[in-house]
Amino acid sequence: MEETKLIELAIDARKLAYTPYSHFAVGAALVTKDGKTFVGANIENASYPLCMCAERNAIYQAYLQGVKKEDIEALVVVADTDDPCSPCGACRQVISELLNKDAKIIMTNLKGNTKVVTVEQLLPFAFSEEDLR
Ligand code: THU
Repeated sequence: MEETKLIELAIDARKLAYTPYSHFAVGAALVTKDGKTFVGANIENASYPLCMCAERNAIYQAYLQGVKKEDIEALVVVADTDDPCSPCGACRQVISELLNKDAKIIMTNLKGNTKVVTVEQLLPFAFSEEDLR
C-alpha cells in the first residue's frame, strides 16, 4: 500500500480520538504485507494513567484479528504537531515487542512533514524477552 494512503487512514482515524483532557488527538494506521489495514486513535480517561495511545490501539486491533509481528509492514502515527509526531516511550516498547525490527514507522503531521524509521532505529537497545532468559 502507498504511504500516502496509509497516512490518510491515520488522519481519518485521528478524528475518532477521545481526548477531553489533553485535547491532543493522535491517529495511527497499520498495514500488513498482504495489504490489510487497522487503525487506532488515542482514548483518554479521567483516571489519566488509563489513557491509551493511538499506536497501541492500532497494533492491538491488528493482533486481535490474528496478525503476527512478521506480517506487519508499516505503522503510521499522526498528530497536529510542528514536527512529525513521535511515538511515546511506552509505545516504542510495545512496538519493539510486537513488530519486526525492520518494520517501518512513519511519523507525520497534518502539514505533511514525514519521517520514516525502522523499529530498531525507533528504540535501539530495547529491553526484550531475550533479557528475561
Ligand atoms: N499520545 C498518543 O496517542 N501517542 C503518542 O505517541 C503520544 C501521546 C496520546 C496520549 C494522550 O492521550 C495524548 O496523546 C497526550 O499525551
